[in-house]
Amino acid sequence: MMKLILNIFLLPLLLIFVCCDSPSEKTISETDKKTEELLSRMTLEEKVGQMTQINITEILIDSIVKNYDSVTTFVLDTNKLIHFVGKYHIGSFLNGRAVPADIWFNYMNQLQRVNLRYSKNKIPILYGVDHVHGSSYLKEGTIFPHNINIASTFDTSYAYLQGKVTTYETADLGHHWIFAPVMDLGRNKLWGRYYETFGEDPYLTSKMGSAFIRGIQENEDIKPYKAAACAKHFIGYSDPKSGWDRSPAEIPDQVLREFFLPSFKAAIDADVKTIMVNSGEVNGIPVHASHDILTKLLRDELGFQGVVVTDWQDIIALQTMHFVAENEKEATYLAIHAGIDMSMVPKSTSFCEHVIALVKEGRISEERINQSVRRILKLKFDLGLFDNPYPRNDRFARIATPENREKALNAARESIVLMKNTNELLPLKKEIKNILVTGYTANKKVPLCGGWTYRFSAKSDHWFPQDMPTIADAIKNEFTESTVTFAEENDLAKYASTAEVIVVAAGEENAYAETDGSINDLALSERQLKLIEKVLSYKKPVVLILTEGRPRIIHQVYDTCQAVLFAGLPGTMGAQAIAEILSGKVNPSGKMSFSYPYKQGHIIPYNYKRSEYSVIRPVKRELNRHSILEFGEGLSYTAFEYTDLTLNDTLLNENEKLTAKVTVTNKGKYSGKEAVLWFISDEYGSITRPVKELQYFEKHEIKPGGSYTFTFITDPQVHLWYPDKEGRKILEQGYFTIKVGNLSRRFKYVPKAK
Ligand code: BGC
Repeated sequence: MMKLILNIFLLPLLLIFVCCDSPSEKTISETDKKTEELLSRMTLEEKVGQMTQINITEILIDSIVKNYDSVTTFVLDTNKLIHFVGKYHIGSFLNGRAVPADIWFNYMNQLQRVNLRYSKNKIPILYGVDHVHGSSYLKEGTIFPHNINIASTFDTSYAYLQGKVTTYETADLGHHWIFAPVMDLGRNKLWGRYYETFGEDPYLTSKMGSAFIRGIQENEDIKPYKAAACAKHFIGYSDPKSGWDRSPAEIPDQVLREFFLPSFKAAIDADVKTIMVNSGEVNGIPVHASHDILTKLLRDELGFQGVVVTDWQDIIALQTMHFVAENEKEATYLAIHAGIDMSMVPKSTSFCEHVIALVKEGRISEERINQSVRRILKLKFDLGLFDNPYPRNDRFARIATPENREKALNAARESIVLMKNTNELLPLKKEIKNILVTGYTANKKVPLCGGWTYRFSAKSDHWFPQDMPTIADAIKNEFTESTVTFAEENDLAKYASTAEVIVVAAGEENAYAETDGSINDLALSERQLKLIEKVLSYKKPVVLILTEGRPRIIHQVYDTCQAVLFAGLPGTMGAQAIAEILSGKVNPSGKMSFSYPYKQGHIIPYNYKRSEYSVIRPVKRELNRHSILEFGEGLSYTAFEYTDLTLNDTLLNENEKLTAKVTVTNKGKYSGKEAVLWFISDEYGSITRPVKELQYFEKHEIKPGGSYTFTFITDPQVHLWYPDKEGRKILEQGYFTIKVGNLSRRFKYVPKAK
């Protein structure tokens, strides 16, 4: 009998205590107290309003919304806003366009004032913006290279600065919540959001992403404000089977845990305040409806305590895209049950109505609602929004300063990868007096920046800063002593005979974001390929510059071009960085953040499994070339030599650490930065092991003739284990190899004898 009473009465109480993250008396902080006190005064309707996020287009006047794609100003429709904040108590809005700072200021000021007048409990609005690579939604805002480039710097300070500069320029405008960084692993090169990733390696993604988060969230210079980052999109979004955005992914649990989870874990370790959910399905379950992923994995296992926001319209999509719910109300039930805190609805109050009905019907408990609202209110308190709800307009001089731009320029300089440099064509010799520049991306700004730059996906240069140079402009500015001519395809023949070198820029001509980036294959467009072939037919030295958000296939021309630069999407300062590399002012130091595929079809990352190239069933030799350049490769104008790789032991026990050292000497004539990448290869594993995995990296400048000794310490508990499909650590006895540069050393791991 006692047992029954315990089950019926005590267990639910106990569960509420354990499940809701209501803090215990002992640990309760001031913020927790304020949150609880506020929560206790709120009606159900007010609580649900806090869980709702509405798009800017719903609160602007109609005439502006009609022309939203070309918007240059915001005019708030106060009546619409009152409807949302007065009647529905909406707690969050999002989005905007790259309008000038004073327009943002007036809009946010008015938004917050009207809201605080109508909010019974005076709860400030939390505003979210997609500043994914700099101040993307601010006219003339500083734009950094996209993440795919930031990663190739192999210097986390650039990811940190990206977050810092962005919040420095936008926190005053009321942008409290930055929907960045993308922590999805760049495994699928077809994916239209590939450039938003930090490439194909989980460790690099973790390091870069967490630095970006710290830059956003730990920026003291934006006082009295604070900003929250958003790690997105949890989890498995980046590897849709077809490559198309938001289409189904099939990722075995073990693979999900080994490759896709570490970056999100790193984000949580970096105290990321919010996480956005993957819009797609993984293994048949849309993530927005997955209790296993959003609660068991994210909350219970990873211990995430912050706010989980849906992606765009994704509760509705459970009905209309995934067809797992017959109507929006059931979709809402599924998502709340799965574990979301806030719905980016984003165009109506339907979410509020459904949640209220579900609570009234007893299908969702009010305590479940409290759980989410508590997290949201706590975020608002943590950001200091209750004390500083209004934007300010006395520090606009912070925007797009030469210092901020210099930081973006430095990031661009170090992010460009010299893929090939036959006969040291680059840097171009001072004596070269006649340079011909061509290519469909050479005289346009858009291809340097890609999507999420001043627009969702800008279709014209019109939106970019006037003073932003194209590649052709920048080469002219850099080579003032030479004749630099830009020629379209039809005029090429006219100039080719006198040119001493031809620079051809190619890649992706247009900006794209999300679904408009979906493609069927990675082929470079026919017209670009033809143009490069035509350029090569003049038998002059050719430099190919690739500006693109994902690798487009270039094997047809790669071997014949003398020099190739992967410029990726280097941002508004990117052309200058390219020109400085051509002239030698900057010695390139970027290394690929992904493996550049040689051909369509066999597209694999650097950390492939050994059976990819089975020794017992060898493939034809010519098929062995899967990449033009592998992850971690990239040239310099100088020559770095790796010597003296030493390990302090060849046997390692479970509580010991192993110190490896290597000396890198600059044997060339230019000073240069070298990113030293330490890989570990596990020889045998009960789950098949990648050929090698990046475990650590460090970058240093080394002067000609100088050396630097790099150190890496292997900790078995950090570097030698891998997860099984349930996340249990597998750490097996056996041989491992440390690889750095062209050197390697073997050691044996033996757990201590009991
Ligand atoms: C994207 C997110 C973005 C959100 C808000 C969605 O469509 O997937 O990455 O943060 O829109 O604009």
